[in-house]
Amino acid sequence: MITLKSQTEIELMRRAGKITAAARALAGEMVRPGVTTHEIDSAVEQFIRKQGAVPSFLHYNGYPASVCVSVNDEVIHGIPGKRVLVEGDIVSIDVGAYIGGFHGDCAATFACGKISQEAQSLIDVTRQSFFEGIRYAREGHRLQDISAAIQSYVESHGCSVVREYVGHGVGAKMHEPPEIPNYGHPGRGPRLLRGMTLAIEPMVNAGKAAIQVLPDGWTVKTVDGKWAAHYENTILITDGEPEILTAPAI
Ligand code: MF3
Ligand code: CO
Repeated sequence: MITLKSQTEIELMRRAGKITAAARALAGEMVRPGVTTHEIDSAVEQFIRKQGAVPSFLHYNGYPASVCVSVNDEVIHGIPGKRVLVEGDIVSIDVGAYIGGFHGDCAATFACGKISQEAQSLIDVTRQSFFEGIRYAREGHRLQDISAAIQSYVESHGCSVVREYVGHGVGAKMHEPPEIPNYGHPGRGPRLLRGMTLAIEPMVNAGKAAIQVLPDGWTVKTVDGKWAAHYENTILITDGEPEILTAPAI
């Protein structure tokens, strides 16, 4: 069942969303040569707790950190650790914060120093695909209108969308129905209604769509070794434009 949030619940989701967006911004500012992925995780965890919130990801299905940090050919769910970021890396940060009974969830890919033009264009295509998708995040449209718009934008730019992982409803639980694939057919899926809160999250590979999970049980990387990017916001379906709850968006 897709839950519709009340006005009070929406207020709480705004608060969770703001903290989550600020955590993403903090992580993004820390992305520079010489920093370890653990340092980012630890600063973000501290920040979230200082706001009175709890990191949504920590211990979720046994996940050992507060942030996912996925570098270069890693698509999602990279576990922070001793890895030192170097100039030219692209770094996907995914973070969630829980406060007042509700979650925010958002992600973005950041450049570490100067990066290649190809890498920058992968980041740009991924981010823009989110905005192409949410043009259809309006009451009366169907869920896969969003999915299809993301897919067609990504593929028309020579990239591919990951199939095995999807966006999702978000609220009192981090993952609620519906699943929101980044591929699909216009006119299919549930009808969108005001009060739905959705995490739309294109995961985009510069090469082929195939992914594999590393032996750590979490890190998802591309099979062909080409790079990947990720972009996510929690949004609210309204009677007009969708509201980005994890604003300011990056
Ligand atoms: N943000 C991810 C999602 O949308 C969650 C990361 S999985 C976790 O599904 F285990 F790290 F929490
Ligand atoms: Co998500």
